[in-house]
Amino acid sequence: MSKTLTSHSLCPWNVSGTHFPKLGSPSEQLEFLLNYAILAPSGHNTQPWLFRIAHETIELYADRTRALPVVDLQDRELIISCGAALFNLRLAIRHFGYTDAVKTFPNPNDPDLLAHVWLGNPRKETEEEYLLFATITKRHTNRFPFRNCDIPETLLSIMQESTTQEGAWLEIIKGEDLRNAVADLIVEGDRIQMANPHFRRELAAWIHSNRNLTHDGMPAYSQNVSQLLDFATPIPANVICTFDIGRGKAANDGELAVGSPTLAVLGTNEDTPASWLSAGQALERTLLLGVAIGVSASFLNQPIQVALLRPRLQTLLNKPGYPQIGYPQILLRLGFGPQVKPTPRRAVSEVLLDE
Ligand SMILES: Cc1cc2nc3c(=O)[nH]c(=O)nc-3n(C[C@H](O)[C@H](O)[C@H](O)COP(=O)(O)O)c2cc1C
Repeated sequence: MSKTLTSHSLCPWNVSGTHFPKLGSPSEQLEFLLNYAILAPSGHNTQPWLFRIAHETIELYADRTRALPVVDLQDRELIISCGAALFNLRLAIRHFGYTDAVKTFPNPNDPDLLAHVWLGNPRKETEEEYLLFATITKRHTNRFPFRNCDIPETLLSIMQESTTQEGAWLEIIKGEDLRNAVADLIVEGDRIQMANPHFRRELAAWIHSNRNLTHDGMPAYSQNVSQLLDFATPIPANVICTFDIGRGKAANDGELAVGSPTLAVLGTNEDTPASWLSAGQALERTLLLGVAIGVSASFLNQPIQVALLRPRLQTLLNKPGYPQIGYPQILLRLGFGPQVKPTPRRAVSEVLLDE
C-alpha cells in the first residue's frame, strides 16, 4: 500500500498535524480537529454523525437519516459509532494542548444532540495520549484471519483497564468451552440475519465494488469476501441481496471466531443512549490502544444485534459467585493480523452543518 492515499474517498486518512492552525481562532482549530473525529469506525461505515460549530463549541449530532433499522433497530450501534468519533475528537483536543471539555446530552429535549465539545484550559498531553493519537490514522477493521499466536495477558489487562477508563468493561472470553459456545451464537446469529431478506438488502446497500467512488459504505476489499463467497469482488452486494448465504457466512465467521487468539465482549452496566455513547468512546480507546500494541480487531456482533441471542450471550458471560454482568454492546475478535487498507470517509465539509 502506498503511503499517500490518492483516491479521493481515502484522502481524509492523509490528515497531518502539521496543518493544525496554531494561531487560528478556537473555531478554526475545532474545525481542523474534526478531521480526526471522522476517521472513527461506524456500523456499515455509515458515518452517522453531523457537527456544527457555534460559539466556539462543537455540537455533535446523531444523523439518524443514516440509521440501519434492520440490524440496529434502536440506533444503539449508531450512537456507539458517534461515541467513537467523540473519543477521537477528545483525543485530538488533548494532543494539540488543551483539556477536552465535554458535556454529553446537553439538551434533554433534543436526543440527537449527543455532546457539546470545546477547548478547555491549556494542558500537556500524557505519553499514553501521544501514543493513542498517533494510531487514529492507522486503525482499520481487520476481517482477515489472525496469526495463531496468543495475545499476552498483560496486554489484554491493559486493554481492559483502558475500556474501564471510559465507563465500560471488556470481558475476555476464556476457556475453550465458553469460546465454542460464543462461536455457536455467532453462527446462529449469522444464519438468522442472512435468512432475513431485509437484513440482506440493508447490508448490500452499504457494500460497494472496489471501484465505487462513494465516501461511505464498505468496499468489497474490506470484507474478506473472496473467502466468504467464491465470487469476483465487484458483485458481492448483488449476491448478498439476492441469496441467503447464511451457511457460508456462518461457517466463515465461526471459523474466524474459533481460530482467533481472543474474543472479547465490550459492555456497559446500563443500556441507555448515554451508556451507548460511553461504549463508543471506550471502544475507540480500546481499538487505538490495540493498534499501539500491534493488536488488530474486527467485529462479530451478531449475538448482540439479534435480540433473541443477546440475553443468551449475557447468560454465558455470567459466572456463578460473581456480580451479574450488564449489557454486551460489541463483540470483538482480537489478534495479530495482516495489514489492511483503509475504507472511505466523507470529508469534514460533508458532515459540518452551517452555523
Ligand atoms: C458500532 C459498530 C458496529 C459494527 N458492527 C460490525 C459488524 O457487525 N460486522 C463487521 O464486520 N464490522 C462491524 N463494524 C465495523 C465497521 O464495518 C467499520 O468500522 C467500517 O466499515 C469502517 O471501516 P474501518 O473500521 O476499517 O475504518 C462495526 C463498527 C462499529 C463502530
